[in-house]
Amino acid sequence: MRRRLRLRGDAALTLLLGVTLGLLLYAQRDGAARTTSASPALEQAVQRPNLVHRSFQPLDTAAAPVFYDEDTPAPPTPTEPFDFDHYLRAKDQRRFPLLINQPHKCLGDGLPGGRPDLLIAVKSVAADFERRQAVRQTWGAEGRVQGALVRRVFLLGVPRSAGTNGADEMDTQAHWRTLLSAESRAYADILLWAFDDTFFNLTLKEIHFLTWASAFCPDVRFVFKGDADVFVHVVNLLEFLTPRDPSQDLLAGDVIMQARPIRARDSKYYIPEAVYGLSAYPTYAGGGGFVLSGATLRRLASACAQVELFPIDDVFLGMCLQRLQLTPESHPAFRTFGIPQPSEAPHLRTFDPCFYRELVLVHGLSAADIWLMWHLLHGPRRPVCAHPRPAAAGPFRWGP
Ligand SMILES: *[C@@H]1O[C@H](CO)[C@@H](O)[C@H](O)[C@H]1NC(C)=O
Repeated sequence: MRRRLRLRGDAALTLLLGVTLGLLLYAQRDGAARTTSASPALEQAVQRPNLVHRSFQPLDTAAAPVFYDEDTPAPPTPTEPFDFDHYLRAKDQRRFPLLINQPHKCLGDGLPGGRPDLLIAVKSVAADFERRQAVRQTWGAEGRVQGALVRRVFLLGVPRSAGTNGADEMDTQAHWRTLLSAESRAYADILLWAFDDTFFNLTLKEIHFLTWASAFCPDVRFVFKGDADVFVHVVNLLEFLTPRDPSQDLLAGDVIMQARPIRARDSKYYIPEAVYGLSAYPTYAGGGGFVLSGATLRRLASACAQVELFPIDDVFLGMCLQRLQLTPESHPAFRTFGIPQPSEAPHLRTFDPCFYRELVLVHGLSAADIWLMWHLLHGPRRPVCAHPRPAAAGPFRWGP
C-alpha cells in the first residue's frame, strides 16, 4: 500500500516536472521577458513556472532558435549484439572529418580576457536538443563565472538513420546537417564529426575531442568533459580548480579502480577475452564527468593517438592515462552514479538544493531536473543549509 502511494507520488512528480519543462520551453520560445521574482521553493516553481524564466539569459534575437520534430532523444545505446569482428576490422580507421567546427571558440573574439579558464565539453546526440538547451541556460552558460572565463562545446557524431535504403539515409543525413548547422549558427557551440553517433563510437568522440581541443583551444587552463544528463555545480568546480596549476597534470573525477571486464554476453558492456584479456581494467574516471588540466589535455591527446581503440570510452581514456603513468584522482564530490534520480526517489530529498550545494557533479538528471535544480540553487533567495561549507572546497590531494 505504502509502495503504491510512493509509486503514485513518483508518477505525479514526473508529470509535474514534465509540465514544468514544457512551460519553461514554451515561455522561452515566446521570448517574453518576465519581471516578477523567481521562487526559491520547488512547489512554487512548479506552480508558477513562468516566474522562473526571469533569470535566464535572454536569447540573441538575431539567432533564431532551432526546434526539432523529435522531442524524445534516442539514447546512444546499442540495440543489437555488438559486432566485435567488424569493430576489430574497422578500428584502424580512426580519423573522421570535422563537419561543423567552432574555430574561434577559444580565441576570445568579442569576449574580453582571451583564453578560457574552463572549457565545458558535453557529449550529446543530435536529437537531444532540449537537453542542450537546458545545459546552455544553466550550468553550461558561457561567460564569466566568479571571474573565470567559461566556454562551452557540444560533441556530436552523425545520427545513424533508421532508414533502410540509401536514398532515405541521404535524406536523413541532409536533414540533420541542416538542423545542426542552424543550431551552430545560433549558439556557436556545436562540434560535429563524420562518424556514426553510437554508444561504441564514444571512444572516437573522445579522441576527436582531445585532438580538437589541443588544436583549437591549446591555452585553455582546465577542461570539464561530461554527459548532458549531469548537473554540474560550476562554482564548486572552479573553487576546486583555483589552487591548481594548469601546467601540472590533473585529472579528477569519480575514479573506478580494478573494474573487471564484463564477460556476460547480454550486457551492454560485454567485452570478450579476445578483445581484452586482462582480468581488470586500468584505473579510470567515470565518463559522466571529469575535469583535467590543459597540460593533461595535451599529453592525453598524443597518448591516446597511440592506444588501440577500445569500445568503452572511459576505460579507453584510462588506458591512455596508464600509458602516461598518470593516476586519475578520486574526488568525493563527483557522483557519476550511485545517487538515485530525483524523480525516482523524492523521499531521499535529492531535490534538496543543500544536497547539491556540496557536490560538483550529479549524474542521471532529466532536462527538467537540471532546470529546477539550477534555479533552486541560483534563485535570489539562497537555500539555508545545515552545512555551510561545500565539501568540494575541502582539502584535496593529488597523487598517492
Ligand atoms: C563508428 O562510426 C563508423 C563511421 O561512421 C561506422 O562505420 C562504424 O560502424 C561505427 N562503429 C560502431 C561500433 O558503431
